[in-house]
Amino acid sequence: MCGIVGLVAKDNCYSRILSTLGRLEYRGYDSAGIALLSEKGFSVRKKKGGVSNLAGEPLAGKTGIGHTRWATHGAPSDANAHPHIAGKFALVHNGIVENYAALKAELLREGETFLSETDSEVIVKLIARAYRGDFFAAVSSVCARLEGAYAIAVLCEDCPEEIVCAKYRSPLVAGVSCDALYVCSDAPALSGEADAIAAARDGEFIHIRDGKITFCDREGNRLERAFTPVTEQERMRDRRRGTFMEEEIFDIPRALSDTLAALRRTDFAPCARAMRSAGKVFAVACGTAFHAALAFKDTVEREVKIPVLCHTSSEFRYRDPLVGKGDLVVAVSQSGETADTLEAARLARSRGAYILAITNVARSSLASLADFSVAMRAGPEIAVAATKSYNCQLLCLYYVAAELCFFRHTRYPAYMAELSALPAAATAAFGTFSAMDSLAQRLQGAQGMYFLGRDADVRTAAEGALKVKEIAYVFAEGYAAGELKHGTLALIEDGFPVLAVATRADLFRKTENALEEVRSRGAYTALFSQCEAISESCADFKCRLPAVCEALMPIIAVIPLQYFALRMCALRGYDPDKPRNLAKSVTVE
Ligand code: M6R
Repeated sequence: MCGIVGLVAKDNCYSRILSTLGRLEYRGYDSAGIALLSEKGFSVRKKKGGVSNLAGEPLAGKTGIGHTRWATHGAPSDANAHPHIAGKFALVHNGIVENYAALKAELLREGETFLSETDSEVIVKLIARAYRGDFFAAVSSVCARLEGAYAIAVLCEDCPEEIVCAKYRSPLVAGVSCDALYVCSDAPALSGEADAIAAARDGEFIHIRDGKITFCDREGNRLERAFTPVTEQERMRDRRRGTFMEEEIFDIPRALSDTLAALRRTDFAPCARAMRSAGKVFAVACGTAFHAALAFKDTVEREVKIPVLCHTSSEFRYRDPLVGKGDLVVAVSQSGETADTLEAARLARSRGAYILAITNVARSSLASLADFSVAMRAGPEIAVAATKSYNCQLLCLYYVAAELCFFRHTRYPAYMAELSALPAAATAAFGTFSAMDSLAQRLQGAQGMYFLGRDADVRTAAEGALKVKEIAYVFAEGYAAGELKHGTLALIEDGFPVLAVATRADLFRKTENALEEVRSRGAYTALFSQCEAISESCADFKCRLPAVCEALMPIIAVIPLQYFALRMCALRGYDPDKPRNLAKSVTVE
């Protein structure tokens, strides 16, 4: 959940690392730091807080490493910020060393002292002790002792213009440009810096030396790896709006359009066998992606008439799931690096299941471990709160559901003929934003709120509630409207906000009844629907959604809710791009 960068460059090393860290900051923003190596040794600047705190007189050196932190071991502080130094070595680390306590105890027994509370400092101490004049061998031998997850970049004072990196279950890529060599946690952070990228796999090392980047195994044997140009999809776009989240909401029509075009080019033939004869179908994901996975379950069960077992990845991996040979597991993850989803996919794969990944990052760990990967075209999503990736996940999953229909000779879903209408409908949904602003102004002081729905609208309600919790810090719950009377109704009192989504015409009245019931008990009610009947509703606040066919409405209905959460956040005085305690890519358990 941290971001790391390493660089060997003829000039502007400090400013290049600084700007790369700026693009990595979405991975963690508790503290940041840089170490540069020159003939005088290391110069280090590290500070609690954001990357902007590192601005100042550039440090000298042609080789450097940088870090932006999401704290796991030890509170955010200058001392716990990376890089960590021991003897002739400086290190940055992303991941968690699970056996760090045992390793630290051993080092303490041998007389070492520590400047930080981090697990990462243990690694650099071990490297310093293992060093016998061979930089690579010292790093490699220490990695063999580490349990958990790590992407590290290490400098050694004896080896100018050299960086040794290792990767295990935390992402790491290498990048090249005409005058610089990079390692970095992700490809988009290198946009504008590197021209071509190659990703490391688990257990591999990247060695920058003599002006070259080499991928190698733990013995230092060279591994062939092709560098490919940074793709348009990986390129970070210039931000024209105040926050990334706003920018990303306004990018939804483009993201849907590009994703649809990519889906139409995708050849699903390699999935044919798995789709045709899968014994069981599973979907695994976390957070927002889990809501998309639930929508997939709804769609497949309705259209293909086969059950889908949908699990949050963290539960799936620890409950001895009934997954086995010949099953199909759809793993959904924007980043493709979420530790729980990766482990769920690995577990399923180890039992012989076929893994179909839906991810926004083509070079991600999930894409590389899956048997087949459907690449979304949302483009880099920087704000911690997922927005455009959710709309695109739904689109991809509806498409996959249709492929399942095709391979299982079930009637092809009618919604497939309507997909082209989505980008325009998403643009039309922006027309609700001034009303969302008014609603947010009305509700900005609320202590909590409910989001209701039925069928697919429950997924939209849950996603709206997650957004409000995540960035506006207001308790919110997405609930099935029919469940209200079974307990929840007791919490309704004067002015309590209840927002309902009702996009199925045949269920509209039922959802409206639930809203009436809370309204008659004093709740403040808001209704979101494309159905004509909304004009007669007694809800206190009504939002008319742009219409697409009902089956696709979840892709559109969530947009006003995403914007509502953004406005709630802004009105309450928070930064939507950096919600407290969170990071974009949850690469630790
Ligand atoms: O990268 P992933 O899709 O695997 O991430 C899963 C969740 O961590 C993510 O969707 C999270 O819930 C979002 N920040 C919610 O907005």
